[in-house]
Amino acid sequence: MRFLDVDGLGAVSRVGLGTWQFGSREWGYGDAYASGEARAIVRRARELGITLFDTAEVYGFGRSERILGEALGEERSAVVVASKVFPVAPFPPVVRNRLAGSARRLGLDRVPLYQVHQPNPVVPDSVTMPGMRQLLDEGRIGAVGVSNYSLARWQAADAALGRPVVSNQVHFSLAAPSALEDLVPFAEREGRMVMAYSPLAQGLLGGRYGVANRPGGVRAANPLFGTENLRRIEPVLGVLREVAAAHDVTPAQVALAWLVSLPRVVVIPGASSVAQVEANAAAAEVDLRPDEQAALTAAARAFRPVSAVRTLVDRVRERLPVRQ
Ligand SMILES: NC(=O)c1ccc[n+]([C@@H]2O[C@H](COP(=O)([O-])OP(=O)(O)OC[C@H]3O[C@@H](n4cnc5c(N)ncnc54)[C@H](OP(=O)(O)O)[C@@H]3O)[C@@H](O)[C@H]2O)c1
Repeated sequence: MRFLDVDGLGAVSRVGLGTWQFGSREWGYGDAYASGEARAIVRRARELGITLFDTAEVYGFGRSERILGEALGEERSAVVVASKVFPVAPFPPVVRNRLAGSARRLGLDRVPLYQVHQPNPVVPDSVTMPGMRQLLDEGRIGAVGVSNYSLARWQAADAALGRPVVSNQVHFSLAAPSALEDLVPFAEREGRMVMAYSPLAQGLLGGRYGVANRPGGVRAANPLFGTENLRRIEPVLGVLREVAAAHDVTPAQVALAWLVSLPRVVVIPGASSVAQVEANAAAAEVDLRPDEQAALTAAARAFRPVSAVRTLVDRVRERLPVRQ
């Protein structure tokens, strides 16, 4: 495993584990997964040197935090658990209350990384961050992070906190590479961390989904799995397959290795099985050559997905009975 040193967090594994899947109906993995496989995934992740575990109060309405805390057991205080407050009315007393709920479900006295799940369009960070600062000063959290923040809003959050907001968790993969342009250079310059969520584009970059084989649940509504986007992603999958073959690894592993080799970037892929968490952890060791890295970046930048609206219209059309 490879690690990144982050202020207030210590050594963070470059490959972490995302746990939205734990106990959430959206993924459709069912009760057997929530009560069995999820725990086995966390245990295996620990054996493989993973120290970063991402969850949120909204995942499965608290079930993800509970499952994660139980599965980590005695080790829960020794790793970087990152949870998130969903910013409905993110006023300091409310955030304090919500943190207490997350900490209780996780079985922690102190949450190492506490993130604002998304920018609140109405309540500015100058209102939310002073509450976060108090929680930091009292040692209830180890560091403050944000999620889905633009660079400008990340900097505004910094100013409002009066100290560095150490991380920004954003949608970032070969199918959504825009963080390359501004967030990654900022993180590199300032010694922060970009946490790439959906680093496998929800499984799309694993290369096993197609028009005749689309995933269900939350992914049925993801425009990336729409017919036109499945066609447009093919050149990216082509480069992934080629690089994967050269290294004798899988396309998913190359997709993660591409992110991990960027400065100050860590990934938090979810996993539906123990085999996947093993493959994902191993991706930290895949060394891409500069020309491979460049070919992947060029393919990612050339990918122009169609909009959610166009995908929806296509879906409706595809379901209409064909006129004879
Ligand atoms: N902050 C936010 O707003 C936000 C939003 C989304 C996610 N997140 C966080 O980021 C985490 C990861 O994102 P995500 O779950 O949306 O997407 P992801 O990590 O890109 O995709 C996870 C899915 O990909 C498939 N997969 C995993 N490893 C694989 C491998 N080695 N080979 C092939 N397929 C593999 C599995 O699905 P199948 O096996 O079923 O195909 C798995 O459930 C979440 O768990 C959550 O913690 C945060």
